[in-house]
Amino acid sequence: MTQFDYFKYRDDKLFCEEQEVKMIAEKQGTPLYIYSYHALVDQYTKFSKAFKDIDHLICFAVKANTNAAIMKTFFELGAGADVVSSGEMRRALKAGCDPKKIVFSGVGKTSEEIHLALQEGIYQFNVESEQELMNIERIAKFLDFKASIAIRVNPNVDPKTHPYISTGLKKNKFGVSESRAVELYEKAAQMKHIEIQGIGCHIGSQITELQPFTDAMGKIRDLVLQLREKGITIKTIDMGGGLGIRYDNEEDKSPSDYASAVLEPLKDLNCRIIMEPGRFLTGNAGIFVTKVVYLKKGEDDHHFTIVDGAFNDLMRPMLYQAYHEINPVEKMGKRKTVKSDIVGPICETTDSFATSREIKETAPGEYLAIMSTGAYGASMASTYNSRGRPAEIMVKDKEFYIIKKPDRLEDIIEKETLPEFLKEKG
Ligand code: LLP
Repeated sequence: MTQFDYFKYRDDKLFCEEQEVKMIAEKQGTPLYIYSYHALVDQYTKFSKAFKDIDHLICFAVKANTNAAIMKTFFELGAGADVVSSGEMRRALKAGCDPKKIVFSGVGKTSEEIHLALQEGIYQFNVESEQELMNIERIAKFLDFKASIAIRVNPNVDPKTHPYISTGLKKNKFGVSESRAVELYEKAAQMKHIEIQGIGCHIGSQITELQPFTDAMGKIRDLVLQLREKGITIKTIDMGGGLGIRYDNEEDKSPSDYASAVLEPLKDLNCRIIMEPGRFLTGNAGIFVTKVVYLKKGEDDHHFTIVDGAFNDLMRPMLYQAYHEINPVEKMGKRKTVKSDIVGPICETTDSFATSREIKETAPGEYLAIMSTGAYGASMASTYNSRGRPAEIMVKDKEFYIIKKPDRLEDIIEKETLPEFLKEKG
């Protein structure tokens, strides 16, 4: 899917499914996120069909979008969840995720989080260090449980993506090196409260080439065979997430090409395949809508379009210099093309969605849609500059539903307290 199957112009007006985007923006106020329900379902269905011939479990990486309605859409289709904190775990469970379909990743799982995960009976811990393994054994012993684990191996493969979202290189903090993995499995095999279930890896995000995935799986295959020789049974292989989407003109890969690339080295191993897609499932199913507040000419006629959305709502451009297509919500007659910096109101130079972007000149009060923002958009929003996080809307056919209200000021400040000495006297 590209974004545009579900976000299309009709008579110059942008629609999400059967609903006019401008109408939602006017009713609900901006900035806001809008997701297409059918785009989510379609992406999931395509992904799961690509793996239909092999025993598999798709664990949606909920960090990409942790809204309950989005998660539930996938859980109803049979997905599980990849979580990295007790917060994500509890939100996934609350949204109806079967605990037996939860994998718990992350380098810093605390004792409390491990405790909770064991009590909930999750499917698998993806263990990232020896100390973590020992901690899980200790807590499982205390609870008299057996913890199912996989060790996350760092296969030292270059995913050829933005360095900030590459995770499978030697220098990255994630996983256990290939050379140490076998030794760690041998230790795990001695632990009474650890059940070795599988092996895993995750090499990075927004990966648009297939070779890094094949290379990583080749290394995993070698390890599975080595472990089996030592009498250690591996039943699951967690391939992580990472499949990229089209933001601009990337050559994104279809789930079936992805499936062929990753399954080639694994198919005769007779393992259950676990996947942790995030961006692929939600990225192109959402847009961020923002209103133009002012136009401004700077030095040398530099053109600025100042909008009501900012980097607290959508951090990707400022964090990773990420490109997002920006389109008018309504194409307005003949307008001249300008090269504009599309910027938010936050008091930092990096509060910019695009630099020198060619767009049709807009006017205050008109709306812009920042495309492909369904993943790592709302889930990374903050309240910097005391801006409430934006509303989220789901569109299904002709209807739209508020799936998250915007923050009110009270939501931002309610947890603050004044120390006695600053309280008003008398
Ligand atoms: N599994 C693990 C262990 C992960 O760390 C991640 C993402 C995923 C799965 C899902 O990866 P995906 O399929 O979405 O590529 N904020 C960044 C992306 C950070 C990704 C972190 N880990 C961005 O906006 O590009």
